[in-house]
Amino acid sequence: MICLHLFFIIKLNKCVRGRWHSAGTFDVETKTGGPFGTIRHGDELAHEANSGLDIAVGLLEPIKAQFPILTYADFYQLAGVVAVEITGGPEIPFHPGRPDKSEPPPEGRLPQATQGPAHLRDVFYRMGLCDKDIVALSGGHTLGRCHKERSGFEGPWTSNPLIFDNSYFRELLSGEKQGLIQLPTDKALLEDPTFRSFVHKYAADEDVFFEDYANAHLKLSELGWP
Ligand code: HEM
Repeated sequence: MICLHLFFIIKLNKCVRGRWHSAGTFDVETKTGGPFGTIRHGDELAHEANSGLDIAVGLLEPIKAQFPILTYADFYQLAGVVAVEITGGPEIPFHPGRPDKSEPPPEGRLPQATQGPAHLRDVFYRMGLCDKDIVALSGGHTLGRCHKERSGFEGPWTSNPLIFDNSYFRELLSGEKQGLIQLPTDKALLEDPTFRSFVHKYAADEDVFFEDYANAHLKLSELGWP
């Protein structure tokens, strides 16, 4: 039973990444991309940034089949909300009603892990999000790990990658350690003074992190959808 539960949680990490990659393609100017279920299609799954997400989509498919009343768009976002809550994170409001769209976003809208603060701002401002959202959402790396064969990076960000807590920020401040990863975009949060002030705040107070994370997650999950 414990093994089954663990197996489920390990896969939930992918749901958190999946729902973010689904929503994070939104462009506030053209109102294209966003959390509208297009990530289930082969063209979008084949985008380089989505490497490994075919696993999450495949895992969710038999569960989705039991709920034909839900759109894929709602279902993927719901999976992200449940994954955060089950792993110990904050409760995030969920409002159903997103339509499924057919047009996938162009490739290249998701952030590249090798970049710095300016790139993070370019990508997240394009979605209509702000500096606080960038740092709070980066705390999603409290869950899961990098896989060399998918992204070229290897390892988890924290010593307990199955638990949603503020350890991502505490690890970031305590410096690099053997066995744990810090991507260039994670380290970018320390380079920029505005980002860095949020990192300190979240490392010191998990409640503040949970509140800001829940707000940012909700915003991300409803981009382009009134
Ligand atoms: C800020 C820009 C971000 C960059 C550059 C980035 C980059 C990456 C990379 C390179 C991986 C490893 C993929 C692999 O090798 O399997 C990854 C995994 C992951 N990301 Fe991000 N990410 C970002 C933001 C986010 C956000 C906003 C969330 C959620 C709120 C998130 C959630 C995750 C999770 C849960 C995993 C682990 C997946 C697994 O265990 O299979 N990331 N990310």
